[in-house]
Amino acid sequence: MRAARYHHYGGPEVVHFEEVDKPAVPDDGVLVRVRASSINPADWHTMNGTPLLARPTWGMRAPKDPRLGIDFAGTVEGVGPSVKQLRVGDEVFGGGSGAYAEYVAVPESKSVVLKPANVSFEEAAAVPVAAVTALQGLRDHGHVTAGQKVLINGASGGVGTYAVQIAKSFGAQVTGVCSTQNVEMVRSIGADRVVDYKKDDFTTGSERYDLLLDIAGSRSWSDMRRVLKPDATYVIVGGQKGGPLLGPLTHTIGVRMATMRVSQRLVLFFIAKLNREDMLVLKELLESGKVKSVIDRRYKLDEISDALGYVLDGHARGKVVVTV
Ligand SMILES: NC(=O)c1ccc[n+]([C@@H]2O[C@H](COP(=O)([O-])OP(=O)(O)OC[C@H]3O[C@@H](n4cnc5c(N)ncnc54)[C@H](OP(=O)(O)O)[C@@H]3O)[C@@H](O)[C@H]2O)c1
Repeated sequence: MRAARYHHYGGPEVVHFEEVDKPAVPDDGVLVRVRASSINPADWHTMNGTPLLARPTWGMRAPKDPRLGIDFAGTVEGVGPSVKQLRVGDEVFGGGSGAYAEYVAVPESKSVVLKPANVSFEEAAAVPVAAVTALQGLRDHGHVTAGQKVLINGASGGVGTYAVQIAKSFGAQVTGVCSTQNVEMVRSIGADRVVDYKKDDFTTGSERYDLLLDIAGSRSWSDMRRVLKPDATYVIVGGQKGGPLLGPLTHTIGVRMATMRVSQRLVLFFIAKLNREDMLVLKELLESGKVKSVIDRRYKLDEISDALGYVLDGHARGKVVVTV
C-alpha cells in the first residue's frame, strides 16, 4: 500500500510516500481501507519534533515511528478472530497510528466505531481528535452545565468549531472568539455571540463567564481573569506555537506562574484521550445533527505536505481533510 512516511524531523517537505506492506489484521482489531483522514496540529508537532521536550518519547535525533496521521474514516476490510462487533464492509471512523495511508489497523476496543449513515467519510474523518478534545475539555475538565456562560477562545479552528456545537448541546450560552473572516461561520454553527478579535478586545467587555475554554492561548492570565467569574473554570487546550523547547506549553507555564493564589478552578494542561465511549457520544451528536463538521479544504493523499503546511499556518477554518 502507499503510505506517508517521515524519517527526519522538519517541515512538511520531510513527508514522502513509500510502498509498504499493508498492516496485518490484529487478532483483536480491524484493518480499515482508509477513505479520508484529517490534519491535526499534533501531526505537525510530531513531524517537526517540537516541542523538544517530547523527543525522549518520539525519538531524540530522528522519529522512532515513521508513520503519521491519526484520524480516519473508511471501510472494514479485515476482522481479527476476537472481534465481537465490527464486520467486513462496515463503514467506520476513529483514531489510529499511521492514518495517512491506504490502510490502517486498529484494536476494536480502542477508538473505532460505526460511521453515522448521515455523514460522509470526509465529515467523519474530521471528527476524532478535534471533537474528542472539545468534548473532554468542556465536559471532563470544564464540567460544563446548562445555562452556563462559556467563552471559547479560538472558536473557528478544528477544536473550536466542535467546541461551540458541543457546548450548545450541553445547553450553555456560548461566546466564540475568532477573526473577522470567520465571524459568520462561528455564528452559523450556533454561537450566541461572536467576538472578532481583530476588532474588539473580549477581555475588556462587561460580560463575565463561568467557563473559558482557551484553545488559542493568545492572551495572558491577567487579561483573561478580567472576564472570569470568581468561581469560574479556566481550561487550556492549546497555545500559540512558542519556542522549540516548550512549544505551546509556554502559555501553560506563563499562566501557572501568574496563578499561585486565585479563586478560579484551573486546568492548565490535558491531553485528550481517544476512546470508544467518547467516539460513541460523538456518533450520536452527529446522528442527531447537533454537531456537524466544518470542512475548510480537501487535499488528496499525495498532497499531504501541502495540507500540513496549510494547517501549520494556524488559521484553518474548521478542519482540513485528506481524501485517500
Ligand atoms: N490538549 C489536547 O489534547 C489538544 C488536542 C488537540 C489540539 N490541541 C491544541 O489546540 C490548539 C488548536 O488546535 P486546532 O486543531 O483547533 O487548530 P487549528 O484547526 O489550526 O485552529 C487554530 C485556530 O486558532 C485560531 N486563532 C489563531 N490566533 C488566534 C487568536 N489570536 N485569537 C483567537 N483565535 C485564534 C484561528 O482562527 P482565526 O483564523 O480566526 O484567527 C484558527 O481557527 C493547538 O494548539 C493544538 O495543539 C490540544
